[in-house]
Amino acid sequence: MDKILVLDFGGQYDMLIARRVREKHVYAEVVNFDKITTAEIKSRGYKGIIFTGGPNSVYEEGAPSFSAEVLSLGIPVLGICYGMQLMAHLAGGKVTTAADGEYGKVEIAVSDALLFKGVPEKSVAWMSHRDYVAEVPAGFRIIARTEKCPAAAMANEEKKLYGVQFHPEVTHTAYGNKMLEDFIFEVCACAADWNMESFIEDSVAKYKAKCAGKKVLLALSGGVDSSVAAALMHKAVGDDLTCVFVDHGLLRKGEGDLVEKTFKGKFGMNLIRVDAESRFLQKLAGVIEPEKKRKIIGEEFIRVFEEQGRILGKVDYLCQGTIYPDVIESGKGDASTIKSHHNVGGLPSVIDFKEIVEPLRDLFKDEVREVGLKLGLPPDLVWRQPFPGPGLAVRIIGEITKEKADLLREADAIFREEIAAAMENPPNQFFAVLTDTRSVGVMGDARSYGYVLALRAVTTDDFMTADWTRIPFDVLEKASCRITSEVKGINRIVYDVTSKPPATVEWE
Ligand code: XMP
Repeated sequence: MDKILVLDFGGQYDMLIARRVREKHVYAEVVNFDKITTAEIKSRGYKGIIFTGGPNSVYEEGAPSFSAEVLSLGIPVLGICYGMQLMAHLAGGKVTTAADGEYGKVEIAVSDALLFKGVPEKSVAWMSHRDYVAEVPAGFRIIARTEKCPAAAMANEEKKLYGVQFHPEVTHTAYGNKMLEDFIFEVCACAADWNMESFIEDSVAKYKAKCAGKKVLLALSGGVDSSVAAALMHKAVGDDLTCVFVDHGLLRKGEGDLVEKTFKGKFGMNLIRVDAESRFLQKLAGVIEPEKKRKIIGEEFIRVFEEQGRILGKVDYLCQGTIYPDVIESGKGDASTIKSHHNVGGLPSVIDFKEIVEPLRDLFKDEVREVGLKLGLPPDLVWRQPFPGPGLAVRIIGEITKEKADLLREADAIFREEIAAAMENPPNQFFAVLTDTRSVGVMGDARSYGYVLALRAVTTDDFMTADWTRIPFDVLEKASCRITSEVKGINRIVYDVTSKPPATVEWE
């Protein structure tokens, strides 16, 4: 399989670049510039390298750099933005700061070059830079210009080295995708053979050889990632896999049953569904502080697994649904914690196992979904919106009781039904929140005093920032009418019109 290395110098678009390459059915991996050596690059057999952008100036002390030898390995290199400047710097060119930079869409004029095969002479590219290559290194020629940037792209065709000052990976660059295609197929001569069928085939063969006949354990949350990991591992090792699914009583309506029906029923998997509702609710009784709720749930999860672990005894492999963005993010170590996110990731220390296996660690989310569908998981499960580990606990403000969880479950299901029925492109995440406010209402001829329920829907790419979704009023109206008439105990509905920041997606 042909591979492209995306050498990361701190750019915003490192993952996007890898995705763009993979969309063309060529495998790409992102590696931080200080996590790989020239010798490793050589031995891993990459067909091409892409230097990403980055926020620094190449001539600054301590700026991310790389051995100049990488340009003489005979492997084609494409430098993007900072990556182009670094290429120029390493090859003996000159990089300086412009009086004023170029930001946003600019017109570029390209010359005849392999990188621009099928790209018209004039088009629009997206720029974001102040530094620029003032003198291209010996052996290079300029192959694109803009009004302000004399070297908007450069090439040393003999060595297969290319640099572009603009960002071909963003959609604002009209022919950016074509340029990347030209680099991958014309310059690097990659074969387009990365697809999810071959991924499944290779993974099944790999994990069959490695894990079959041994004991494999997977903590199934019912989320997309752990579900797909379970289906894939099951295809590889069958009954050697045991999945443990903890139902903490704070799942959405029908969720636990769907997981059981799918994995136990359809796939015939060894699934242990631990009904732990009462013990979680007991521990949460009287607790109103959000962080305390999260901590209690996280700890109780571990306790439940400890018990299951004792029953199962020593396992050989612990299988986890880690996916590529998780790997990259943890490698960068820059995740700042606003809330203590709870996942089943805290498990390894409580389970007696030999090794962790992560069959999805090379895949992006959309690839994971494709694998799930190809393995026969129901679309409902594969297209599931994110759901926090602590479940409805962070959507019930104030004390959590079974009565409140049941109210919220019903109301949330109605809201989700109405969105599904009315919106072809649903918001990225949408749910109901049970507030701890009660208000006076009138139902029939009688006074009511019920809970205020909030509806929340957000539009976002990465959940780090989010906008509230402009849901059509008639959808809100229908959801509101249905909830107040079908869910006894809720008599008022409000819609959350706050973006993140200043709010977060969840209410707690
Ligand atoms: P916030 O509320 O932090 O949510 O803006 C951002 C995204 O993360 C999800 N979320 C969690 N996911 N464990 C999880 O696995 C958690 O404790 C947790 N808290 C929030 C939230 O649903 C949204 O998608």
